[in-house]
Amino acid sequence: MGNAKSVAIITGASQGIGRATAIRLARDFSAIVLVARDKDNLETTATEVRSLRAEAMASALDLRQPQSAKSIIEGTLERFGRIDALLNIAGAVPQIDLFQMTDAQWNDGMALKLNGARRLTIEAWGALKASNGSVVFVSGSAAFAPKPGYAAVATINAAINALAKAFAEQGIKDGVQVNSVSPGAVMTGRRRVFFESWAPAHNLTVEEAIKKFPEQAGITRLGKPEEIADLMAYLVSTAAKWMTGSSVRMDGGEIKGI
Ligand SMILES: NC(=O)c1ccc[n+]([C@@H]2O[C@H](COP(=O)([O-])OP(=O)(O)OC[C@H]3O[C@@H](n4cnc5c(N)ncnc54)[C@H](OP(=O)(O)O)[C@@H]3O)[C@@H](O)[C@H]2O)c1
Repeated sequence: MGNAKSVAIITGASQGIGRATAIRLARDFSAIVLVARDKDNLETTATEVRSLRAEAMASALDLRQPQSAKSIIEGTLERFGRIDALLNIAGAVPQIDLFQMTDAQWNDGMALKLNGARRLTIEAWGALKASNGSVVFVSGSAAFAPKPGYAAVATINAAINALAKAFAEQGIKDGVQVNSVSPGAVMTGRRRVFFESWAPAHNLTVEEAIKKFPEQAGITRLGKPEEIADLMAYLVSTAAKWMTGSSVRMDGGEIKGI
């Protein structure tokens, strides 16, 4: 365990990268607050966190709802009295062609990944100032290579990198460290949804697509949620304290530009 008492809030903790991060951070923090909508899946993560001897509190809420942020932060401070790290990982932006996407689908993506994370960070800011805490936003490598098939994802991820930078600037004054992480293709439920549309477009089954994709993307393999989780753990550790306002890509080399 890192500090005698240190508290991390992790959104998207019911599955995928968020769940892996919660389990990884249970080794470094004394308490983990788990946020997502699915209560049962959150409880499964909570059980694993507790098995690593950290406390766990599940907060089953929809981050698209404006009142969720207040409720999560109030609940955390009531139970644990402090916040040391906030990891904004939840995301479910529709992967629909730019020309097919409705306003409602576009706005729904913004409501969760961009606005949900923005509100939660603002709500947590006072406590983060008090602890000289850390924030990590998860965007995605699509931000660096927008295509019509995932224009909303790319746009929101680019906006998240900019938002993280804006928070980081304020954080220099307030003693809060803020960075963003852009994962590439990481094998999770969300990535499977991507393969479900990528596969037929390449005349492949989903399982064939999962095998074929790395070669087409110019990488050796897909990433694992645990690999992103290790990067997150580093970013919120004391070793990374001087790192702020950075946008870190972890994508197996998929993005070929510098
Ligand atoms: N996997 C990749 O290849 C990849 C690549 C680039 C970026 N990313 C980003 O990494 C993050 C995690 O992705 P993932 O692949 O781990 O996805 P995932 O397995 O689908 O997990 C998404 C998480 O977000 C939560 N969530 C979705 N809608 C929510 C809502 N309205 N309110 C609260 N929580 C909500 C989900 O929980 P509930 O359904 O229980 O609410 C789940 O815990 C996302 O922001 C994604 O854009 C992933």
